[in-house]
Amino acid sequence: MIIILLGPPGSGKGTQAAFIQKKLSIPHLSTGDILRKSIKDGTELGNTVEKIMANGELVSDKIILNVIKGRVMQDDCKSGFILDGYPRNVKQAESLNLILKEVNKEINKIILLDVNFDSLKTRIANRSKENTDEIRADDTSEVLIKRLKEYKNQTAPLEIYYSNNINFNKINGMDSISNVSHNIKKFLDIAN
Ligand code: AP5
Ligand code: MG
Repeated sequence: MIIILLGPPGSGKGTQAAFIQKKLSIPHLSTGDILRKSIKDGTELGNTVEKIMANGELVSDKIILNVIKGRVMQDDCKSGFILDGYPRNVKQAESLNLILKEVNKEINKIILLDVNFDSLKTRIANRSKENTDEIRADDTSEVLIKRLKEYKNQTAPLEIYYSNNINFNKINGMDSISNVSHNIKKFLDIAN
C-alpha cells in the first residue's frame, strides 16, 4: 500500500506515520527526516540544504526528486510505503506520478491532517520543549511563520489537486492523537 500523509508543519504527520508503520509494517519515508540526517552526517546534500531548511523554505524540487527516487527504489519499499512531507507542491505530485508509473504502482490512500494554524504554534513550541536532545533549527516561532507561509502557498493547493481522487480523505487533526489514529485506521481498513 502507498499512503501519502499531507498536512501543515506540526499537524501530526510524523506521529501518525509512525502509527501506520507499526500497523502495516511498511517503511515511513519522511523527506524532512532524510534531509535532517544528511545534515547530521555532514554529506554534500546536507550542506546544500542546511540553510534552506533552517530558514523554513522548501528545498528545490530537483533535490527532492533525487532523494525520493533513490529511496522508493530500495528493496524495503516493494510492498508499499508511507510518504510524510512529500509531495509538497503540485510539481512534486506530478513527478511522483511518473516515478510510480515507472515501477507500475499507484497511490492507494491520501490523507490530509486538518489542523488550524493557531494550535500548530503551541504544538511546535511543546515539541522543542519535550524533545530537547533533537531540537530542530526550524522550530522557532519566527521560522514556523515562514514554514506556514510556504505551506499555504505551495502545499495547500494539493488539497484541490487530490480532491477528485476517491482515495483522498481529510481527517480532523485537531482530535487527540489516539482518535486521529483511530480514524486513520478506519480509512485504511486496518482491522486492529
Ligand atoms: P518536515 O520534516 O516535513 O516538517 P514539517 O512539514 O514542517 O512538519 P513537522 O515535522 O514539523 O510536523 P509533523 O506534521 O510531522 O508533526 P509531528 O507528528 O511531529 O520538513 C522540514 C523541512 O524540510 C521543510 O521546511 C523543507 O525545508 C524540507 N522539506 C521536507 N520535505 C520537503 C519536500 N518534499 N520538498 C521541499 N522541501 C522539503 O507533531 C508535532 C507535535 O505535535 C509533536 O510534539 C506531537 O507529539 C504533537 N501532536 C501530534 N499530533 C497531535 C494531536 N492530535 N494532538 C496534540 N498534539 C499532537
Ligand atoms: Mg514531521
